[in-house]
Amino acid sequence: MKPLKSEAINYLQGTVQVPGDKSISHRALMIGGLSIGETLIEGLLEGEDVLKTLEALRSLGVVIEKKAAGNWLVRGRGVCGLAEPEQVLDMGNSGTAARLLIGVLAAHPFSVTLSGDKSLNSRPMGRIINPLREMGAIFQARSGGRLPLNMTGLADPLPIEYELPVASAQVKSAILLAGLGAAGKTRVIEPKPTRDHTELMLRHFGAEVEVENLSGGARAITIQGQPELSARDIVVPGDISSAAFPMAAALLIPGSKVTIKGVGINPLRAGLIETFKNMGGAITLENFSNEAGEPVADLLVEGSILHGVTVAPDHAPSMIDEYPILAVCAACAEGTTRLEGLSELRVKESDRLNGMARGLEACGVNIEEGEDFLIIHGDGSVPQGGVKIKTALDHRIAMAFLILGAITKKPVVIDDAVPIETSFPGFVQLMNGLGSRIEEM
Ligand code: S3P
Repeated sequence: MKPLKSEAINYLQGTVQVPGDKSISHRALMIGGLSIGETLIEGLLEGEDVLKTLEALRSLGVVIEKKAAGNWLVRGRGVCGLAEPEQVLDMGNSGTAARLLIGVLAAHPFSVTLSGDKSLNSRPMGRIINPLREMGAIFQARSGGRLPLNMTGLADPLPIEYELPVASAQVKSAILLAGLGAAGKTRVIEPKPTRDHTELMLRHFGAEVEVENLSGGARAITIQGQPELSARDIVVPGDISSAAFPMAAALLIPGSKVTIKGVGINPLRAGLIETFKNMGGAITLENFSNEAGEPVADLLVEGSILHGVTVAPDHAPSMIDEYPILAVCAACAEGTTRLEGLSELRVKESDRLNGMARGLEACGVNIEEGEDFLIIHGDGSVPQGGVKIKTALDHRIAMAFLILGAITKKPVVIDDAVPIETSFPGFVQLMNGLGSRIEEM
């Protein structure tokens, strides 16, 4: 356990670059490992979660070499070319590593056991086990469909058509990655569009992926199985989910001016930018570019007077990981904020609805927690703070409350900063470099 204290500051100023996108980093390693040739990845997130994917792929026979900080070379083994591992695959804290890799392994004819930390071992895996069983993979999981689990995939999984019961990019991706091995077309229907990094990267590596818009905002994604994927270089954009923390701090603290360079702004992922703008946040985008289909820009953020908003359920998939920091901003805004359609937050690295509600309440914020919503009554004044927050192995809860501590009347302490390493190595140094006062206790 590593407690940290965050104290009130005057303003934030400077230009920073946040680490590489976590979702894209996992996918670059996995799809690079399934392609023919050498994939050079620049800007890979070297956080614990991604390193778990990297180590698991090495156990599955993929040669991966570090060339320089953030630069890694992956020698692919081709679609369905992974080898049976000798050991249990440890996925740490990472739901994305576990769920996407289980999809990949459903198209490999050997047995594997996967496990994780206490948080990951409590998260639902039934959502991927069910469709992958339809494709022919065999699973033995702990009660409630949880890790550790043992699975046996097959060389020629059945191509299926599957309608997702929840809007989840991880489930969609697991099925598409398993569909790489199927003789024929695998079709996934999602009720609401979710982040499409898998689709974009598979196309970049030469797979045939079609996307159809259906009625009511649903989408169907079809992949033609058994393609030959050709190695391609990847430049990973900065992670919008990490950028969200300095962005929020800059918005909240009057007189701040922060530039965050080279951030991925994929519209299915960067919903927080629109939400912050709707709250009155001064955010300007410039220097637009594109990396393998992923739009990228610099974000200029200035201290702003924020007001409450309603964020409807349809908006949730495009900013699902940003609700903890959004709740912090809502707590400091003027007026009521309603965050709706958030049942998925109960099964993230921790129960984030409960964690944010209890933590903000302890800081003196007037907040209501429903089954799948939060209502936060801000009065524009600075919350009290002066509490110690339990982070429950959840990096985003940890970072959200450290940002809150930069504005509260009394410091905010988090009980454990270790989980921050899963997604944002260097978070404390980056924030302190901009003017934060986050210190070890
Ligand atoms: C992710 C999808 C989301 C998100 C997670 C990363 C991905 O999860 O919360 O942090 O990389 O596909 P769900 O698919 O469970 O919504």
